[in-house]
Amino acid sequence: MSASEGMSASEGIEYVSYGGEHHLPLIMKLVDQELSEPYSIFTYRYFVYLWPQLSFLAFHKGQCVGTVVCKMGDHRHTFRGYIAMLVVLNTYRGRGIATELVTRSIKVMMESGCEEVTLEAEVTNKGALALYGRLGFIRAKRLFRYYLNGVDAFRLKLLFPRPEPNYSESRIASEDYTNELADGDNLVPYKSCH
Ligand SMILES: CC(C)(COP(=O)(O)OP(=O)(O)OC[C@H]1O[C@@H](n2cnc3c(N)ncnc32)[C@H](O)[C@@H]1OP(=O)(O)O)[C@@H](O)C(=O)NCCC(=O)NCCS
Repeated sequence: MSASEGMSASEGIEYVSYGGEHHLPLIMKLVDQELSEPYSIFTYRYFVYLWPQLSFLAFHKGQCVGTVVCKMGDHRHTFRGYIAMLVVLNTYRGRGIATELVTRSIKVMMESGCEEVTLEAEVTNKGALALYGRLGFIRAKRLFRYYLNGVDAFRLKLLFPRPEPNYSESRIASEDYTNELADGDNLVPYKSCH
């Protein structure tokens, strides 16, 4: 790894943005190990090939100990970011690594013009719900039996501050939000972290 890959260090942990095919097996190994939902290699490639700037890896002494994988794009009337996977190796938890990884992705999303960020998390995943709650995410929707293991999910959402809208814009925005809470759709053809 080189400085040109965007590495920085804090307390011995180095963070890099996705740097190419050599990072893919590291991400897959960590996610397969720590998340219950199975993903195919096509799912991983979909994210890291299209949005390499939104995926980050954390290293300690050359070992990959954490990763976040994301996307962004148009959804209804908004341009939004989506956090698909977030994992920190068990023995490295509680040091702020996930917070740092997610914060880096969110920063790039904001700079790219996203108005909000969403993700799904198992309703039983206290750690993830606490982490995202601290970052300002709200619970926008409960998704019944969302995961293959039968567990419900919360859809979490972080809204970025926007310039004051005029009256007609704010009416459209509130209608859109009402629709979202009422329907039962999923945003993506795969399921995010749990
Ligand atoms: C969830 C996960 C990514 C958190 O990683 P982490 O590096 O330990 O998280 P951080 O150290 O950045 O935690 C930040 C805050 O989140 C909360 N938090 C994280 N893990 C927690 C846990 N197990 N219980 C309660 N709160 C927790 C705390 O408020 C914590 O702040 P604090 O340490 O100052 O109290 C990690 O536990 C993990 O990989 N879990 C398995 C995969 C997973 O569930 N991913 C998320 C899918 S949505």
